[in-house]
Amino acid sequence: MQASPARAYGGPDSTTPDEPAWLALPERELSAVFLTIRERIYDFLEDYYDREHLTRAGDWMLALEPQADEYLVIAALMHDVERKVPGGPALRKTQDAWDDVTYNTAHTHRSAVVVPTWLLVQGAPASWLTAVAQPIREHEFGGSPEGDLMQAVDSISFLETNATLVARWVLRGECSEEKARQKLRWMGERVRHERGREIARACMERALEDFDRLMDEQG
Ligand SMILES: [Fe+2]
Ligand SMILES: [Fe+2]
Repeated sequence: MQASPARAYGGPDSTTPDEPAWLALPERELSAVFLTIRERIYDFLEDYYDREHLTRAGDWMLALEPQADEYLVIAALMHDVERKVPGGPALRKTQDAWDDVTYNTAHTHRSAVVVPTWLLVQGAPASWLTAVAQPIREHEFGGSPEGDLMQAVDSISFLETNATLVARWVLRGECSEEKARQKLRWMGERVRHERGREIARACMERALEDFDRLMDEQG
């Protein structure tokens, strides 16, 4: 994992948090079961192509809401993992809209089944198994306050980590340059959470710059 100087997103009087350190934990008491399962999630994600995005989603959950319930951090760390289980839905990048309701509903609802199932096997508290489902189901479109928070950390962490992934889609011929830019814009502009929105916009601008640079380098 990388260490870089934290970026500040708000002014001196702003309540907008700065960029968190990787794997940062807040100064508050966290349960032993949370810390154990968090470590197991990092192990579980070790071979997952998008693990940095999920890792940062957990970091940003605690940056945006330092008092967030433990299950929300767990949900953030795992919100996309249905993609790690073969047989899931697939978005056709060339023809489907990024906000395609059919695909995103199938994706989010499948994760909302996969995650509690995995947590059950790990011996997570029973209350977490039901509590993680709704914010995970809402991580693409938001909805409830917890869903909006999940959507914000999904957007911010995706834009922070995935300009290279999105550029790779173009280089592999999976979608056009413009369609790839639309993905970054959708992730940046969809955010409903108030403080998250400001950060997501800044991350979107940086991701678009990184994406354009990567495209230029490929000629
Ligand atoms: Fe997702
Ligand atoms: Fe995500």
